[in-house]
Amino acid sequence: MARKKIALIGAGNIGGTLAHLIGLKELGDVVMFDVFPGVAAGKALDIMQSGPVDGFDSAMSGTGDYSAIAGADVVIVTAGFPRMPGMTRDDLLTKNAGVIGQVAEGIKTYAPNAFVICITNPLDVMVWVLQQKSGLPPEKVVGMAGVLDSARFRLFLAQEFNVSVEDVTAFVLGGHGDTMVPLTRYSTVAGVPVPDLVKMGWTTQEKIDAIVNRTANGGGEIVKLLEKGSAFYAPAASAIAMAESYLLDKKRVLPCAVLLNGEYGQKDFYVGVPVVIGEKGVERILEVQFTAEEKAAFDKSCDAVKKLIEDFKKLGV
Ligand code: APR
Repeated sequence: MARKKIALIGAGNIGGTLAHLIGLKELGDVVMFDVFPGVAAGKALDIMQSGPVDGFDSAMSGTGDYSAIAGADVVIVTAGFPRMPGMTRDDLLTKNAGVIGQVAEGIKTYAPNAFVICITNPLDVMVWVLQQKSGLPPEKVVGMAGVLDSARFRLFLAQEFNVSVEDVTAFVLGGHGDTMVPLTRYSTVAGVPVPDLVKMGWTTQEKIDAIVNRTANGGGEIVKLLEKGSAFYAPAASAIAMAESYLLDKKRVLPCAVLLNGEYGQKDFYVGVPVVIGEKGVERILEVQFTAEEKAAFDKSCDAVKKLIEDFKKLGV
């Protein structure tokens, strides 16, 4: 069987890390596209040269020509600009929407059957623009945010309980950013829900609240430390988990930004909910029962995403 082809649109920090992980996990061959094709080609060659050491044969190339992504099975999009000092949120929306418009055209023309994962921020709006402009079926276009948010939540909970991250599960919904909604009663240590652990005296509600807050601001914490740029190792690992579930038809249940069509009483925009990812893309959306408080938090998060989409529409890009 031929190796799978994975196209990475954007060869920056996340793009390079994605390519490295794809090699290490032997998921397929990689084509990296960037407006700086030399950077894409240089990173591709550098990573491919680690293959003999680490024992992988993935072919890697860099390009500035969309035709090179032809027939890709998976496309992961990180192309865009970070927010710079002096830039408003609208400036960033306008700039990155322009970039995503070009990316959508490239995918529509050369890789219309791919499973597409968007990482570019502001995530929930950018993935919506990508789906609308590419015209790809919504079940084949998803946004990466929830896997990252829940990884951060799992790490902080594992540290608090002094247990392995492997035994901590987390359930996170909503938009990417500070309105994210972690559902603590569905977050567990080896199946024991967090509220029970509070009752058992493993931690306090105050500490859980602080962890929730730290998770929601997890990206900002790293931006502050790095001073230049934003997180890239964990975002790349998170997108790879989604790609792997699709390529291997694992049917993992992962929180992803997907187009809602009435689920949770919401429709026509992208927001994070738990979904099953398999060979058909998004195969099922899990719709859990909310308490009144959880519903209010989720609706508030949806309102924030919808407001950003309205702002974007007013910009007329
Ligand atoms: N087409 C293709 N690539 C582009 C385009 C374009 N029109 N415009 C910019 N790029 C490329 C840049 O040249 C750069 O190599 O996108 C890459 C972005 O890389 P970084 O700036 O290193 O950003 P990164 O850390 O990888 O994050 C990418 O993901 O998490 C989000 O907020 C983050 O939106 C950002 C994105």
